[in-house]
Amino acid sequence: LLGVQVCLCPCPAMAREYFTHKGVLFPCLDYSPEKLSYVENEFQVRDDDIFNIAYLKSGTNWMLEILSLIRCDGDPGWVRSVLNWERAPWVESQLGLEAALKYPPPRLLCSHLPVQLFPKSLQRSKAKIIYTLRCPKDVLVSLYHFSKLLLLFKDPGSLDSFLEDFLSGNVPYGSWFDHVTGWMGLKGNENFFSITYEELQQDPWGSVRRICHFLGKELSEEQVAAVVENASFQSMKGNKMSNYSQQRDEFMDHQNGEFLRKGICGDWRNHLSEAQSQRFDTVYRERMSLGCTQAARGQ
Ligand code: A3P
Repeated sequence: LLGVQVCLCPCPAMAREYFTHKGVLFPCLDYSPEKLSYVENEFQVRDDDIFNIAYLKSGTNWMLEILSLIRCDGDPGWVRSVLNWERAPWVESQLGLEAALKYPPPRLLCSHLPVQLFPKSLQRSKAKIIYTLRCPKDVLVSLYHFSKLLLLFKDPGSLDSFLEDFLSGNVPYGSWFDHVTGWMGLKGNENFFSITYEELQQDPWGSVRRICHFLGKELSEEQVAAVVENASFQSMKGNKMSNYSQQRDEFMDHQNGEFLRKGICGDWRNHLSEAQSQRFDTVYRERMSLGCTQAARGQ
């Protein structure tokens, strides 16, 4: 009997272990090949779904907060009373999928899945996709710190070895390069909107207005200001529904740092050596020119 139950307990054998699904790494804890296949092949995307999608550490939770607040016309009542992962579950995790299937429409959902593993039913739907990108060197540094905190992920080891893992896609959810080139292949589709973490930082008001426009939701200046204010780094850090302080101890080592770490652009300059930065640039040039060519050909 035990053998057929899904194990979500912190078994030492599963914590910090990965499995490979279609060439992409996933944590053993809270993920399974069966559920990933179900999500890809059977999960039904609805026309009124809004998907918040990003590679890890690219501002997914910031966008989740912005979308939650836009849904409530800037009123912070919902973001202060309901946990963020319940407001917008991650469809690919076992617990997130359960929550997504019970979610009364219109659904707000999150995903870090690369495009090739995303529900196929997206193609026949009018669901809206918001894709957030971030400077990959900042993603690398943020993921390095987060991997020490999140007990689903392996300890990252030295920054030098983690840099190589990141560049080769040997990290959960796979390669940043594949993720970005894959999703950006949807650019130009009327239901696809992309924005960068850096744009959100530089012009939060303009960014929120653009997101509202994409969603067909016009807010007043006061409501836009309320969205920006309540989704700020400081507001989220002080909100236990958004700062992951309520995450279970078996998922997160709260002694080892905070989810809302720095929230700035360019922190990689404080961590990467000149040689590490150049190594990154070399692979970036190779991978992005190849990726853009493949995306342009629709491959
Ligand atoms: P840092 O580790 O660089 O601080 P994700 O939500 O995709 O996991 O991304 C997490 C990163 O976004 C973290 O980056 C986190 O601090 C940052 N972040 C979260 N909310 C933010 C906000 N309101 N403003 C700026 N950065 C935010």
